[in-house]
Amino acid sequence: MQRLSITLAIESAADYWEAEALYDLCFSPGRTALSSYRLREDVAPLADLCWTARDPDGVLAGVIRCWPCYVGDTPVVLLGPVAVHPTRQGEGIAGLLIYRVVDMAQQKGWSRILLVGDLPYYSRFGFHPLTGVEMPPPTNPDRVLGLDLSKAAWDRISGAVRKADDCISPQ
Ligand SMILES: CC(C)(COP(=O)(O)OP(=O)(O)OC[C@H]1O[C@@H](n2cnc3c(N)ncnc32)[C@H](O)[C@@H]1OP(=O)(O)O)[C@@H](O)C(=O)NCCC(=O)NCCS
Repeated sequence: MQRLSITLAIESAADYWEAEALYDLCFSPGRTALSSYRLREDVAPLADLCWTARDPDGVLAGVIRCWPCYVGDTPVVLLGPVAVHPTRQGEGIAGLLIYRVVDMAQQKGWSRILLVGDLPYYSRFGFHPLTGVEMPPPTNPDRVLGLDLSKAAWDRISGAVRKADDCISPQ
């Protein structure tokens, strides 16, 4: 099997606008109207869970960012957005980014990851539907998914997802 020549690195300040352009290309510039963006507004991303994927020429092929948020009173990682350049899709780059973030989140002491996305894609990483976790409307509840970083971490966690407008620590 051919090895992917992709270098992963934590996103730096110098990457910011290039990453924004890739998100605009993959999602359209209207992406910030999505309800999940209300949870990110004026909240600092989790710097050690924001990664870039570059090819050997240094071209940005993929990007992932994560934010903290609460489900009820429980702090969790909100994974995404994740985007891969249209010319590099299907090579496993998003998979590399997602596995890296999952690893890092676990190392940093987080127990739970939340995202809004397609189950047929994210189930391969172990994400499962969350019942009783309410994203800001309008969000299709079937797209609200969670990953347990410790045994049964999402059991008995429910409630409204709300913005982390204070400084929260991994839990
Ligand atoms: C979704 C996305 C990040 C996947 O990136 P990628 O690097 O191509 O993903 P990978 O190479 O790791 O995985 C590709 C596989 O996932 C599948 N896949 C991709 N998106 C999927 C989806 N929405 N539902 C089901 N399967 C999906 C592909 O068909 C492919 O399947 P295969 O392995 O059987 O060939 C990329 O397509 C993208 O940037 N899309 C636009 C932005 C977006 O929708 N982001 C995700 C929502 S937060």
